Amino acid sequence: MIIGVESTAHTFGVGVCHKGKILANVRDMYHPLTGGIIPIEAGKHHTAVAESLWKQALVDASITEKDITAIAFSYAPGLAPCLLAGMRFVKTKAKLLGIPILPVHHSIAHLEIGQSIGAKDPVLLYASGANTQIIAYASGKYRIFGETLDVGIGNCLDKIARAMHIPFPGGPHLEMSALRGKYHPLPYSVKGMDVSFSGLHNKALQLRAQGMSAEDVACSVQETAFAMLVEASERALAHTGKREFVLGGGVACNARLQAMCKAMCKARGVTFFCPAKPLLIDNGAMIAYTGELLFKKKLCISLPKLDIAPRERTDQVSVTWK
Ligand SMILES: Nc1ncnc2c1ncn2[C@@H]1O[C@H](COP(=O)(O)OP(=O)(O)OP(=O)(O)O)[C@@H](O)[C@H]1O
Ligand SMILES: [Mg+2]
Repeated sequence: MIIGVESTAHTFGVGVCHKGKILANVRDMYHPLTGGIIPIEAGKHHTAVAESLWKQALVDASITEKDITAIAFSYAPGLAPCLLAGMRFVKTKAKLLGIPILPVHHSIAHLEIGQSIGAKDPVLLYASGANTQIIAYASGKYRIFGETLDVGIGNCLDKIARAMHIPFPGGPHLEMSALRGKYHPLPYSVKGMDVSFSGLHNKALQLRAQGMSAEDVACSVQETAFAMLVEASERALAHTGKREFVLGGGVACNARLQAMCKAMCKARGVTFFCPAKPLLIDNGAMIAYTGELLFKKKLCISLPKLDIAPRERTDQVSVTWK
């Protein structure tokens, strides 16, 4: 029975996993009153909600603390005050219960959870707030075949939404708005397998200032940005020859992005996977699930070695549990 704690950014989440099955997955999101995330405030939020979410997860999984074998937590990458809040909480619990800790890389958890729905060796499009990466496993590491050269896709959507007075997170609002919009061309920037969103972001705001409707802006931004992601993903599939594709991260909740990826996979004869929404946005279940993979290989960490790594990249991690 592995319990997983997520606290890399806006969300504090606790999940429980047993033999690959998710038994609980609860979360609480920090919402800034205005503007973007204030890391210290988000960290305080996490500390405030941690205990009650922990208890709720135990209730949902119908277990007690005594049933827990190990605690997994997301040590990287993320906002330092948020990561620290999670680490302190987990350390206290592990000491109290006398159980080991499993350090899980958040981005890799977004990847590994694709296994829970059947993907074995996919190319993954990790489209979330801070990260946008096209990833596939090769020779002991999750290699990044392409990524954003500037802002993450979710943060790009959130920033455009914020400029239109839509609160954080703006992605879901833009999705609804886009349904009523028309497409206008915006800067489309794919460089090799990398993508760049700053030109699109600036142009979208210019067009809005010149009177383009919010619906048309939303539609044009989605069509352009998502097409860029699908193009780079398709190139990674062609290059690696892999036959599976996983769409993950918070932006993967978007039905338009899902439809575009599905169409590309169908055309290539590649199997498309996309986890359910509670496993796409930041959550503790994916941390518990990945933690269990580590636990099977006895990859626990001793308390003195416990630390956070706010900037550690996906491709810096040696995947020793596969
Ligand atoms: N339906 C949607 N359409 C577009 N974007 C969405 C949708 N739902 C959520 N998002 C976006 O997903 C992002 C949050 O995703 P997630 O929780 O995985 O990211 P994060 O933790 O901020 O980033 P990372 O995983 O890179 O650290 C936000 O930017 C939000 O706007
Ligand atoms: Mg995330």
